[in-house]
Amino acid sequence: MIEARNLVKRYGAKTAVNDLSFTVTPGHVTGFLGPNGAGKSTTMRMVVGLDRPTSGTATVGGKPYAEHRTPLAEVGTLLEAKAVHKGRSAHDHLLALAQSQGIGRRRVAEVIDLVGLHDVARKRAGGFSLGMGQRLGIASALLGDPATIILDEPVNGLDPDGVLWIRTLLRGLAAEGRTVFVSSHLMSEMALTAERLVIVGRGRLLADTTVDDLIASATDRPVVVRSPQAGELGRLLVSAGASVTDVEVGELSVTGTTAERIGQVAAERGIVLHELHTEKASLEQVYMALTRDSREYTTDDEPQRADQQQEVAA
Ligand SMILES: Nc1ncnc2c1ncn2[C@@H]1O[C@H](COP(=O)(O)OP(=O)(O)OP(=O)(O)O)[C@@H](O)[C@H]1O
Ligand SMILES: [Mg+2]
Repeated sequence: MIEARNLVKRYGAKTAVNDLSFTVTPGHVTGFLGPNGAGKSTTMRMVVGLDRPTSGTATVGGKPYAEHRTPLAEVGTLLEAKAVHKGRSAHDHLLALAQSQGIGRRRVAEVIDLVGLHDVARKRAGGFSLGMGQRLGIASALLGDPATIILDEPVNGLDPDGVLWIRTLLRGLAAEGRTVFVSSHLMSEMALTAERLVIVGRGRLLADTTVDDLIASATDRPVVVRSPQAGELGRLLVSAGASVTDVEVGELSVTGTTAERIGQVAAERGIVLHELHTEKASLEQVYMALTRDSREYTTDDEPQRADQQQEVAA
């Protein structure tokens, strides 16, 4: 369990984390989302005591990280994948870490197998690919068999095989009753991995919810209609105030109304329908809408509000 209460972190004039409160509960994967610079890594660092909050508190398993006598057994973290001694082998890196915490050799061998580094465990970690480095970082995080796992962008740069491996691993760890808190920018991947989400923008909490509820909250999803009388139906819907786009012959995409209303109009006019459904929103669509006003770095084709432009320029 991770609890953040009114966390604030200021770096000079910059407020990286702004009165952030949330709870990450055990038993499922919780995704930590937000645009670049939203304060995710800063929050994670504060949770594990690498950064001191300006105000507010963060606890893991009911205590501040620093108060745990065997922190690796309480919290496993992957914050900086390449934070290993380049000259050491993966095995020796893990062994050194294990010995500093009174963890036995057998556990080192176990985590090496668990992350699939068996064949390269005696090779210098400095020569590892990004994916191998991520696996080593995850092995370090799992070394103490922790109840809570905190990973900052673990799928960054991984190939599809590695992405699938992390998804399966994280879901498995959560199913064992652990608390799994993981940041990512890959929305489609998060939709498959996480059950809950904490979303931040400019250091503030934007949502603390489940993936399902967030997706269901999407408003004005298009309704797809297929009908041999699509033209007639389209004209009726437009005159009733809806926006209608011809997708192809006999198929319309309609916004500004509901599937129920379209069904009603069609029935009243004796129009035959072959299909009528409301499109499911994607996590990416809902996330983009939710964070639109909190993105610090946007591209030219996404007009910014004047106040944001000033803030970025300042
Ligand atoms: N040590 C620091 N000194 C000054 N500013 C910092 C420091 N660390 C972070 N910041 C600033 O705090 C804000 C939040 O940064 P943070 O790295 O937590 O964001 P993030 O959500 O992890 O972003 P990303 O998705 O790009 O990893 C940013 O504006 C960043 O520039
Ligand atoms: Mg970050």
